[in-house]
Amino acid sequence: MCGIVTAVATRNVVPVLLEGLRKLEYRGYDSVGLAVLAGGELVRQRSCGRVAELAARTEAQGLAAPTGIAHTRWATHGVPSERNAHPHISGGLAVVHNGIIENFETLKVALQARGYTFVSDTDSEVIAHLIHDKLGGGAAGLLEAVRLATLELVGAFAIGVIAVSEPDCVVVARRGVPLLLGLGEDGVYAASAASALFQVTDKLVFLEEDDLAELRRDAYRVVRPDGAAVERPVQISSLTADAVELGRFRHYMQKEIFEQPQALADTLGVVAGGVGISPRHFGAQAEEVFSGVRSVLILACGTSYHAGLVARYWLEAVAKLPCTVEIASEYRYRKSVADPDTLVVAVSQSGETADTLAALKYAQTLGMTRTLAICNVAESAVVREAKLRFITRAGPEIGVASTKAFTTQLAAFALLTLALARLRGALDAEAEARHLAALRHLPIAVQKVLDLEPQIERWAEHFATREHALFLGRGQHWPIAMEGALKLKEISYIHAEAYAAGELKHGPLALVDRKMPVIAVSPNDELLEKLKSNLQVVHARGGELYVFADAGSEIPEGDGVHIMQLPENYGLLSPILHVVPLQLLSYHVALVRGTDVDKPRNLAKSVTVE
Ligand code: F6R
Repeated sequence: MCGIVTAVATRNVVPVLLEGLRKLEYRGYDSVGLAVLAGGELVRQRSCGRVAELAARTEAQGLAAPTGIAHTRWATHGVPSERNAHPHISGGLAVVHNGIIENFETLKVALQARGYTFVSDTDSEVIAHLIHDKLGGGAAGLLEAVRLATLELVGAFAIGVIAVSEPDCVVVARRGVPLLLGLGEDGVYAASAASALFQVTDKLVFLEEDDLAELRRDAYRVVRPDGAAVERPVQISSLTADAVELGRFRHYMQKEIFEQPQALADTLGVVAGGVGISPRHFGAQAEEVFSGVRSVLILACGTSYHAGLVARYWLEAVAKLPCTVEIASEYRYRKSVADPDTLVVAVSQSGETADTLAALKYAQTLGMTRTLAICNVAESAVVREAKLRFITRAGPEIGVASTKAFTTQLAAFALLTLALARLRGALDAEAEARHLAALRHLPIAVQKVLDLEPQIERWAEHFATREHALFLGRGQHWPIAMEGALKLKEISYIHAEAYAAGELKHGPLALVDRKMPVIAVSPNDELLEKLKSNLQVVHARGGELYVFADAGSEIPEGDGVHIMQLPENYGLLSPILHVVPLQLLSYHVALVRGTDVDKPRNLAKSVTVE
């Protein structure tokens, strides 16, 4: 998704802008650009390539300036091209924009009637002309012109603006899209994510919905849409730039897969030592919010949705609570029956996913006010919107394909299940102690599964030439099969589908032949014998089986049947172990196929538009 960096400082800000863009690369983008005010002139550079290409161009040009704005673009309106890349210019001002302007066509017609010529196919260009129009129309300064322009914009935006008329100033504004300020020693900065600013500061100011800010080298002021000044707290971030370095790994995805034992240990730190299960892990008000809950509604997208699907099995089996899991983009527009005694759980790695945020807000408008966010970013919009919160401690996830965020979400759901079960009298002390022991041992159990990497690398060679794959699972491992298929699709571009193994005979079996690899998630649980029968059926049709089995599963290896053995069955938490080899398999298949593992085509890390 698009990303913004802005800077006004006593130093040359071009390297800061470029480094900021590099840190935002993980969000996904298809073109880049920057504009600076150098010696009273507006200078722009754009590229349809990577940030490295933009850096090479600015270096060749010897570009240096104290004020600038920069952007990574993920195309929504208009193809990826240099012409459509940001910044967009109108006269002496330049604008970068993240988001979507819904009324751009109406604005465009009006601006064209006033003599403006459009040179791109983007919705964003209207913002530049609109601000220019306000400046020409007598607005008292850049901040005022931006303020008046934003009043006319419908949609979502985070924008950064510079103008030759005010060379020592950057104006920013946000609505529905995140934007934060960074207060450095030598200047004031702004960006879409804190990781872009750690290079210069850890002092952050999170702008609220509809805030605008005027940034100068040694000062800044925040105003509301009516022009009234407002104070926003300065926060010192506990994250560091080191948290996003690649270290010994080839890709962030690989690093993040291997960080899972630590991420799980950090997330489960709330029950470390002698601390038991408690609603308080979810916030001071949790006991009050949880008591009287009669059902659970989980809202999420993509991988986070799969975490919710696993949690459904846990919440119903252990906490005895009816649970539904909804894709956020569907739920937000569905006429559903609301129950105020439902606990609504929004799950999101980023906490900025537009659909998840909108679904949570929609549930609240239906009268469901018992809300909980399970999220990896404490300061995110989803967390701020919910009454309760559980912050997963996965650390920054840079690879577009979610891995450690998923397993830590599952850890959070395990704690939630046990807390609700306990509150409802559905968990005796012995069972609680058993679950706690399993949770505390989980990081070590995951580490053992990671040791399978060399074997998985060998399997990956088999897949690299295939164009289709089927994933099978049953019970709480069916969503794990879904997650495995999603991972393979998104980073290796192999078409993959997941089925509950019992569904195979109702249609998809027709796809099975010698060329179809079938990956089976086969834990040694009460459904194993049923699953074995399903696998027999695949084998009999010539399908090539790749089975991730637990110790003791007793599935014989043979012609067309490949077995990889995980440690012994891990009970309720088994999905957390079984997803790991599927993550590694996708990673290694993508490596063999030579795709851009951390930034797969067409995808963005943080989907802040609908
Ligand atoms: C897949 C993936 C996406 C995200 C989805 C939701 O690997 O990462 O499917 O899970 O876009 O994102 P969050 O969790 O940030 O709301």
